[in-house]
Amino acid sequence: MKPSVKIYVLATIIAIIAFAVSCKKSPDDGNGSNNGGNGMVEMTPYEWISPYGFDDIVIPEDNKLYVERIALGKQLFYDNRLSNNGESCNTCHVQSMGFAAEGLSDFDNGQAKMPLMNLAWHKNFMWSGRVSGTLEHVMEVELTKRFSTDINKINAIADYRDKFRKYYGVNEIGVQDLSKALAQFMRILVSKNTKYEKALIGQAQFTFEEMKGRELFFNEKGDCFHCHVHFLTTDDMLHNNGLDSIYTKQIDKGYFNVSGNPADLGKFRTPNLRNVALRSNYMHDGRFKTLEEVVEFYDHQAHRGIPNIDPNMVKSNHEYGLGLTEEEKMYLVAFLKTFTDTVMVNEPMFRQD
Ligand code: HEC
Ligand code: HEC
Repeated sequence: MKPSVKIYVLATIIAIIAFAVSCKKSPDDGNGSNNGGNGMVEMTPYEWISPYGFDDIVIPEDNKLYVERIALGKQLFYDNRLSNNGESCNTCHVQSMGFAAEGLSDFDNGQAKMPLMNLAWHKNFMWSGRVSGTLEHVMEVELTKRFSTDINKINAIADYRDKFRKYYGVNEIGVQDLSKALAQFMRILVSKNTKYEKALIGQAQFTFEEMKGRELFFNEKGDCFHCHVHFLTTDDMLHNNGLDSIYTKQIDKGYFNVSGNPADLGKFRTPNLRNVALRSNYMHDGRFKTLEEVVEFYDHQAHRGIPNIDPNMVKSNHEYGLGLTEEEKMYLVAFLKTFTDTVMVNEPMFRQD
């Protein structure tokens, strides 16, 4: 080898090594860890314990739960500067109502304001299941589509810049960073203290009516449990429960609006029934005002003859309805009220500071 070639080879090797070293990641350049890199401070890990009877959850590696990040997410949730019209998340998601609110939302073409709880176990979101994936992704949708969040405005707030640097190691806040922090707060909104579950572990006792209602909910006569499954009260799947035979409003078409597939007409994600008694309008468009009306619907008003009806709605000779007596309807309503979680709706950790 000529000396000039040797030098060239050597120089190339040195350049490659130098490049490799410069590319090597610092021990923490992600948002998952807690070692104080990138201007981050040491944080207090939030110890997640899945409640009795619940599955484990998946927490994204790059958004591990810390007490400080959860507090930041809560601060954002209650801050109307995220929007440009004075709204905060709390405008439509109020703790005392299980993080739902009265009335319908114009922005959502007249859909009811959804409750927020036990979302950590979901993969499908929104009434129609139109968003799927992680809570981080759902938050990005709420921020960009609903709020058109002005990221420059957020970056101009020194408090947020400081906190995102300390807790996420970022200097310039992006929508993804806001989404991560909000997702932390969403994830810990857990309902696990209803009478429904306390009675199972002997910490509460059902009344006679509630017990009868529970039987109906879980037996083939009432047959609610195939979709509103134990303990979450939702299977997180899409079903047509027979609300309509003709889909007059766009929002009534459900998942069809996403897939364009006629087989998805009128399909909605099974909603969580926790705290259902705290609300005053039911179904995606709030068409029923009381739980009594909902039970009447399931008893004999559902359109069980339509092509898309879910098989669970017509099981065990239910083609013509459930055939409930007046007492049985009352029992079911009494049982639905045991899904109320007064601990959650009063939890100081969820409350606005
Ligand atoms: C103007 C009322 C309104 C505001 C403000 C609002 N939401 Fe919502 N939110 C809704 C409605 C309505 C839905 C259901 C929309 C749909 O199904 O298409 C919803 C759905 C959701 C869901 C999905 C719940 C589920 O069970 O799938 C989450 C999570 C959520 N909102 C969080 C937030 C957060 C966080 C903010 C603030 C960044 C926010 N929302 C602001 C009305 C609102
Ligand atoms: C085939 C699955 C399925 C079965 C069986 C079923 N549901 Fe539902 N339920 C749903 C779906 C899907 C919705 C939401 C429809 C919508 O968004 O318009 C719903 C909505 C509800 C709501 C309104 C919740 C809210 O947040 O507005 C209540 C209450 C309810 N169901 C109770 C019951 C009871 C009681 C039974 C048994 C008598 C039952 N369901 C049987 C799938 C089912």
